Amino acid sequence: MKKAIVLTGITTTGTPHLGNYVGAIRPAIAASKNADVLPFYFLADYHALIKCQEPERVRQSSLEIAATWLALGLDTSNAVFYRQSDVPEILELSWLLTCVASKGLMNRAHAYKAAVADNEQSGEHDPDKGITMGLFSYPILMAADILLFNANKVPVGKDQIQHIEMARDMAARFNHIYGEHFILPEALLEEHGATLSGLDGRKMSKSYNNTIPLFEPEKKLRKLINKIKTNSLEPGEPKDPEGCTLFSIYQAFATPHEVTHIRQRYAEGISWGEMKQVLFEHINNHITPARERYEALLQAPEHIEEQLQEGAQKARDISVPFMQKLRKAVGISRISS
Ligand code: TRP
Repeated sequence: MKKAIVLTGITTTGTPHLGNYVGAIRPAIAASKNADVLPFYFLADYHALIKCQEPERVRQSSLEIAATWLALGLDTSNAVFYRQSDVPEILELSWLLTCVASKGLMNRAHAYKAAVADNEQSGEHDPDKGITMGLFSYPILMAADILLFNANKVPVGKDQIQHIEMARDMAARFNHIYGEHFILPEALLEEHGATLSGLDGRKMSKSYNNTIPLFEPEKKLRKLINKIKTNSLEPGEPKDPEGCTLFSIYQAFATPHEVTHIRQRYAEGISWGEMKQVLFEHINNHITPARERYEALLQAPEHIEEQLQEGAQKARDISVPFMQKLRKAVGISRISS
């Protein structure tokens, strides 16, 4: 049986945090060890330019994300792990898809619609003020990422489902005009990847500025955990684990047995100070071996680069011949050989 291709991209604009780890990275790394799937994971650095025009940040984020995935044990003998910009066929396909994508469909993309709504709300005359063509065409670039490798499944958060539908739409139109070249991809909703609460109790997210970086050094990790908001119940008073940020983070890193034990401690009235200590030690123990590998990798970026180059080679072994076929299909080829 042919292995299912599972593909996902990570935009290189930030430092991975505990929420990314639990929601996306951990399940993706587990999947990389599953011999029934062929995973494609890539650093979406062209996507980063849509949101971020600070070159140093894009560079640093690419390094940190690559080091994180490798430190956590991504199996690169099974998974194809590459940098988007090392596969120029993605941009080439992006143009072919641009020429079959309907503008009306792109008008309905929610990242674009949200930007227009912001302008309208602030009383702007021009609804497109400050909106780049990068933001507008972003679903096309994402479709190219996916269709170039004929991915079957795309693990994404809820906010990205629309983009997968758009990719299916572009694939179907292309197939209709030029013949069956693309598989229609399906979204794989990341539900078992739990969402984690952040320092202020809202969902942990870069945009709320409430994150705990995954490989924060020990001292800083302790400080951040001490900052997590709790209610004002006193030591000795029974506490409810449901809706408690400390508990929800603990749970994401613990076995069912450990969780039962902590529930018991809540009922007995564990103090918030002690629970923070328990949480810190638990996460720190869990993270320390990977953090050591992460720090070693950051000291040896050439090892990371080597892995990425190997990944790019594997990706291009597929994308170069496929792109050649697609070029021919649309009528772009040499006049005589
Ligand atoms: N747009 C995705 C995000 O912001 C990242 C991404 C880029 C992606 N290309 C992709 C995800 C292709 C899945 C498949 O999270």
